Amino acid sequence: MQKIISQVHLSWSDDPKTTMNITWQSREPLSQPMVQYGEGGTLSQTAIARRIRYAQETGPLYQVTLRNLKPGTTYSYRVGDAGKGWSEVHTFRTAPATPPARFVFTAFADHGVTPVAEQNVRRVLAGEKPAFHIIMGDLSYANGNQPIWDDWFELLEPLASEVPVMVCPGNHEDERNIRFATYLARFALPEKELYYRFDYGNTRFIMFNSQDFRDAEQLRWFERELSEARRDPTVRWVIVSMHHPLYSSTVRRLNDTERIEVLQPLFDKYRPDLVLLGHHHNYERTYPLLGGKVVVRHPNRYRRGQGVIYVTSGGGGKSLYDQTPEQPAFTAKRDKCYEYLRITVTNNTLTVECRRTEDNSLLERFEVVR
Ligand SMILES: [Fe+2]
Repeated sequence: MQKIISQVHLSWSDDPKTTMNITWQSREPLSQPMVQYGEGGTLSQTAIARRIRYAQETGPLYQVTLRNLKPGTTYSYRVGDAGKGWSEVHTFRTAPATPPARFVFTAFADHGVTPVAEQNVRRVLAGEKPAFHIIMGDLSYANGNQPIWDDWFELLEPLASEVPVMVCPGNHEDERNIRFATYLARFALPEKELYYRFDYGNTRFIMFNSQDFRDAEQLRWFERELSEARRDPTVRWVIVSMHHPLYSSTVRRLNDTERIEVLQPLFDKYRPDLVLLGHHHNYERTYPLLGGKVVVRHPNRYRRGQGVIYVTSGGGGKSLYDQTPEQPAFTAKRDKCYEYLRITVTNNTLTVECRRTEDNSLLERFEVVR
């Protein structure tokens, strides 16, 4: 029988320094759904959760936003109900008040519910615990079959109950007849949720909905965000996450001419320091590009702002796609394998590692320096 509390996951919808969202489902309705939490292993504080209802729900869904937390602090928590029972006790950590000297986050895309997807969750957790994890779309592959979402959130729980998971939508979140309804209900994210930004330390993360890449309101927002981020002296790094790659040597897909036409001018103008992508189920990372052309051909070290580096990390777990026999000129590194990204951020360097899920070996490491 399904346990009483399942699918516990963390995310931010507000300031990562002082808030935390917790979402979960229960087997049956809870009479007083709540979070018990506190510092130093105590559970002395409580917050009442709200029931989230949506037409496609598979069970009672609860969400709570903890506020007025202390920055840079580890909290313990459990969720549930005094009558029906509790989850395990988990911990999370708020973002520090001032930018840390370094932090680590992890990322992948195209996850799914497979043994290797589960293994990738363990890989991400096995190294240094990331400050948060990003998934660049294509999460559960429920495709309208809602219980698949339950399976996916259960698979993700070991990671998502300990580390905030920040997502952007892929084509598979755009479910038949209901569009993004399940994504919107089950995640608590900032602003419009399909696209938003958040800051962690010295870095601005801009999450873009590339499924609706022509949406005029979103494009206006996107350009404003890129421009503001570039003008803000407190923002040392700008990292964009979205689902669909512009450039690719995946067989039968290749470059996305429509998205290149709409998005490449914005990327070239504002030059985010990294663009994280998925959709094509393999790893492919470009040299710094401008106008689709290689600006610097060094294998692994780049000065910020020379061009735009696109990193497709589509080996999250769902399946793998073939790459063309010839590696294109724009590609610095590629491989058809399951993998994840581990990115270390300091004041002057972004260090990007891609590791293979199978054996945790290093596929590549490159740096962007200021
Ligand atoms: Fe996709």
